[in-house]
Amino acid sequence: MNFTIRAMEKADWPEVGELIYVSINYWYHTHGSGPKFNNGPESTQLFCKIYEDIDPGCCLLAVNESSGSIAASCFYHPRETHVSIGIMNVHPNYFGHGAGKLLMNEIIRVADEQGKPLRLVSSAMNLDSFTLYNRCGFVPRQVFQDMYVEIPEGGLSVEPPSLASRVRSASPDDVDAIADLEKELVGIRRPDDYAYFIENQDGWWSGSVIEDAKGNLDGFLFSVANSASNLIGPGVARTEEDTAALLHAQLQQHAGRSPVFLVPSDCCDLIGTLYSWGARNCEIHFSQTRGEWSPPTGVVLPTFMPETG
Ligand SMILES: CC(C)(COP(=O)(O)OP(=O)(O)OC[C@H]1O[C@@H](n2cnc3c(N)ncnc32)[C@H](O)[C@@H]1OP(=O)(O)O)[C@@H](O)C(=O)NCCC(=O)NCCS
Repeated sequence: MNFTIRAMEKADWPEVGELIYVSINYWYHTHGSGPKFNNGPESTQLFCKIYEDIDPGCCLLAVNESSGSIAASCFYHPRETHVSIGIMNVHPNYFGHGAGKLLMNEIIRVADEQGKPLRLVSSAMNLDSFTLYNRCGFVPRQVFQDMYVEIPEGGLSVEPPSLASRVRSASPDDVDAIADLEKELVGIRRPDDYAYFIENQDGWWSGSVIEDAKGNLDGFLFSVANSASNLIGPGVARTEEDTAALLHAQLQQHAGRSPVFLVPSDCCDLIGTLYSWGARNCEIHFSQTRGEWSPPTGVVLPTFMPETG
């Protein structure tokens, strides 16, 4: 099969939304799980909207040359320190025909041209995507367990963690400190993403920060809730105690929902606290890098919206 690569345009959003919906749901259905998306193929057009808001022109399509159908899509996010790979989808009609690899190779070319490492988060249960990334030179770096909590309509009624009083809502004045903290603890910087969440034009985002006794930032955590995603992250904090306080605050934003969040599997105290709040595991993910990487010195809560481990 022959594919042409081109950038996504606005007219492609309905087809790309359907592609994301069918690709993910079909893959999970044929591997023994229920659907990941439940609100119809129009809901997944939100990926196009959000990613185009943040990174216009950074979605590549592989188009079947003979039919003109879109066989695959992949979003990517060039940042000052790295390039991250967003959601990658091949239509089930085209699984195993090289469309995924073609798109990856093009994004690798972009990152290499800019001299930047690539980062992504991939499911440890999906050997197809694991192999695609692994063959392209990605190395798994950290293990995360996906957890969720069913939050009652009246909110989470657990004892607030010890540092809860140091948490407040994120404001536009926090953007530089948030970006600097992530650079210090994780080695990556992406202030525009945080400005976008805090601006919150669509009303989907929520953000919290935690301060030390002197008012310096010790952590931050964002979340999204719309018809395509209910995720907590991205977030970074100095300690597991800071992270527990941030998660408690963000979980309270999701009364009546069951948000999913990725927790580093070596954060045993934090995970123990989350089990005591009723958290359950639903998947395992790896953060992966291609190129330069150094271990984080804080707690990282990655996400798929937008992606960066
Ligand atoms: C994962 C996915 C993107 C792969 O795309 P694809 O177009 O089917 O993959 P390709 O045909 O380009 O294959 C890529 C490479 O991985 C290899 N590969 C793929 N699955 C494999 C498996 N299970 N075991 C061994 N090798 C595998 C292929 O042989 C190929 O390597 P090669 O070219 O060196 O021979 C696609 O299956 C998909 O969209 N799945 C559902 C959605 C999803 O999982 N998205 C990723 C997470 S968001």
